[in-house]
Amino acid sequence: MVARRKDNVKAADTISAMPVGLRSEWWIADVRVPTRLVLAPMAGVSVQAFRRQGRRFGAGLVCSEMVSCAGLHHGNERTLGYLRISSEERPLAVQIFGSEPALMAEAAGMVEDAGADLVDINFGCPVRKVTKTGAGATLLDDPERAARIVSAVAEAVAVPVTVKMRRGLENGSRACLEVGPRLVEAGAAALTLHPRSAKQMYTGTADHSLTAELVERVDVPVIASGDVTSRARAQAVLETTGCAAVMVGRAAQGNPWALREIVDEEPAEPTREEIVAELLLFMRETVRELGDHRATGFLKKFYGWYLGGGRFPRPFKQELVQLATLDEVETRLLAAAPGAAEVLARLEAEHEHGDEVLLDLPISIYGGG
Ligand SMILES: Cc1cc2nc3c(=O)[nH]c(=O)nc-3n(C[C@H](O)[C@H](O)[C@H](O)COP(=O)(O)O)c2cc1C
Repeated sequence: MVARRKDNVKAADTISAMPVGLRSEWWIADVRVPTRLVLAPMAGVSVQAFRRQGRRFGAGLVCSEMVSCAGLHHGNERTLGYLRISSEERPLAVQIFGSEPALMAEAAGMVEDAGADLVDINFGCPVRKVTKTGAGATLLDDPERAARIVSAVAEAVAVPVTVKMRRGLENGSRACLEVGPRLVEAGAAALTLHPRSAKQMYTGTADHSLTAELVERVDVPVIASGDVTSRARAQAVLETTGCAAVMVGRAAQGNPWALREIVDEEPAEPTREEIVAELLLFMRETVRELGDHRATGFLKKFYGWYLGGGRFPRPFKQELVQLATLDEVETRLLAAAPGAAEVLARLEAEHEHGDEVLLDLPISIYGGG
């Protein structure tokens, strides 16, 4: 169970009184977050296996990838599948995107029913497919509508509502500093800032001086996202911005050890056996979530992420990507690191109840939907 806060002390008061140890707890309204490290929402990456792994390696909070409120409204099976939450990943935020306050409120209700601890709203996605519908980062240019969305969502659910945003649409924009406080007034219990413009996509660097300015302007926790790749960087961002927590995205792809290094200062480099065992566990859990067919394609990018960076010879990844079935991939991985079988068995034994699902969705959603 996720702890619920009983008193009415404002979250910001608690934070200013606490040291910024990465292993210290903090609160988003009444939701306790046990560490200062948050795993970023990433479309095409943040499946349940990724989130559960993130929690195991020290993330205090994890987030689903963005889920379309229109898809939820229409009962699209694949979209509904994103609401498949297990108790082991909590506390968990499910992120929704859309541009219509009423539809967003409806989606938030579904997210709450699915067992999420937080509803996160996406005002940061820079991808044209999303922005052309008036959703994602576009809303930073329409603060009035953005505030109406937040207030409709906050009224619809009892769980805290949070918002993730970019700095603005154009390079150099400071829109987040104007929009952020309005969203807090509308009911946002925390803000995440990725201080790049939408136009920048992932180029340049995240300008966390804006994060520091945002922290000054709001009395809710701010999470800093962007270019946090090491413990030193995490500590520097926490200290120089006054943010409540740092978010890690790309650095955790195929590399949960980076999370452990950030929270615990443990050396990041795992053995080959550990790498293969984590990859195999990830593959098996993903097959259970997405079904064999979808998982086969989905997993291909993870081979490079897990095995690259000098961990295994480059042709090995190419070989795996070309194998037709996941069974063949498993066999090949175990041949490359035979000791991984034992590590995997131990991991599976430790987490055998991790598949418990909170919401009873129609059965066709499971295993592929
Ligand atoms: C592949 C990919 C998918 C992403 N999908 C989402 C998303 O669904 N929702 C969101 O708010 N941010 C999304 N992001 C942005 C990340 O959450 C994060 O803010 C960004 O990557 C910067 O952090 P990093 O430098 O730690 O990766 C995505 C980023 C990547 C690389």
